[in-house]
Amino acid sequence: MEKFPKDFIWGVGSASYQVEGAWNEDGKGENIWDRYCHSPESKVFEHQNADVTIDEYHRFEEDMDWLKELRCNAYRFSISWARILPAGTGAVNPKGIAYYNKLIDGLLARGIQPMVTLYHWDLPVALQDKGGWANREIVDWFAEYARVCFENFGDRVPYWITLNEPTVFTFSGHLLGAVPPCIQSFEQGLYSAHHAMVAHGTVVRLFRKMGLKGKIGFAFDIVPKLPYTDAEEDKKAARLANATTQYFFYEGVTKGKYPKEAIDFYESKGVKLPLQDGDMELVTEKCDFFGLNYYLTQAVRYKKGCGLFDCEYVFRENFPVANAVEWEIDPEGLYDVLKDVQKATNNEVPIIITENGICQDDYCENGEYNDDERLGYIRAHIDVIQKAYSEGVKMAGYVCWCGFDNFEWNNGTNKRFGLIHVDFETQKRTMKKSGKWYREFISKNS
Ligand code: BG6
Repeated sequence: MEKFPKDFIWGVGSASYQVEGAWNEDGKGENIWDRYCHSPESKVFEHQNADVTIDEYHRFEEDMDWLKELRCNAYRFSISWARILPAGTGAVNPKGIAYYNKLIDGLLARGIQPMVTLYHWDLPVALQDKGGWANREIVDWFAEYARVCFENFGDRVPYWITLNEPTVFTFSGHLLGAVPPCIQSFEQGLYSAHHAMVAHGTVVRLFRKMGLKGKIGFAFDIVPKLPYTDAEEDKKAARLANATTQYFFYEGVTKGKYPKEAIDFYESKGVKLPLQDGDMELVTEKCDFFGLNYYLTQAVRYKKGCGLFDCEYVFRENFPVANAVEWEIDPEGLYDVLKDVQKATNNEVPIIITENGICQDDYCENGEYNDDERLGYIRAHIDVIQKAYSEGVKMAGYVCWCGFDNFEWNNGTNKRFGLIHVDFETQKRTMKKSGKWYREFISKNS
């Protein structure tokens, strides 16, 4: 197999709400995750919150040293919108700008490229109170926030990601109500999804207009739903589940058209796509890379009246299931997705795996965190990436999810994804076996 090129990106990722803490310090505004975690309605494990989490806001110097120790040449992190613009728009918080400047400069000084996500789910509450992603004005709000980030950090950041996993904050947040803003509405589900895509394209266009020298893309999650059998009804159910979730965005950007099944589904609920002239040109605005978050595949079987799409999820034989989460591990599924993206983009756009990793509960033996399951998972997925690369798929990088154990959204601190263990009581960081393996792997491959 072909070796990875010298400039291949090897990184780890994080998100502001999951790692920063300092939720109300130095002028930061409240965001929808702060509000949700502090409310009695929160579904987070043991009603935890990320007020402190792994305290990266205060410990970023130490954490950057850990990233260097991992031999990463990139760190993917997100900017907290409410730390920069506490009310979502308007006044800029200089202390927020100062924090990210220190982080960016510190990374560069260590030879680590900053990969910045503009939005990883933590909308300022001031904007949610005006309708958030379901309000078309979000397109201007997001562009205003992006402009502030580009003006302040654009001279030094080589990689920008507009949105992380739109399925989660639109579909799960506005239709299922599973995560903030915890709304259950077909109308808001579809509106927020479309507005997210228009906002994404608007910001890509702004980036070009400002003449910044970095690269810009998105980070879409793709969890392919595969029919459990060859029966037509299973295939139909899988197609509808795909079309209404992750493939809504994927086909939007690659085909310039949202999946018909999704549009029909919403119309059957009395909701029409709020399309305006020029929207799809924005949605398909050309990106410099295709950011892909890949974790697993799922099988779907038709079952009348079950869930939103008349189907149920079924475990398949011969797929190892991760111990700590009910995920069927499927590295070959990643190969299929990479081939599909290659085709959909005419192999013109380099693919960066912007997230991949697994939750494994830690067990400690003589002071060592032996997370063999995680190590095996990461190795198997990197092997598949190398295979695809050897066959000509344009691959540009791999960002492992994630560097440090942190606040796992509704799972709180109950689920761990890190290559580096964090003791949430003492904040002590310890490299796990998977981290040591990743470090050696990067050393040999860069
Ligand atoms: C992705 C997110 O969905 O997966 C990350 O972008 C998250 O922020 C990771 O931590 C694992 O997620 P979860 O929800 O399965 O614990």
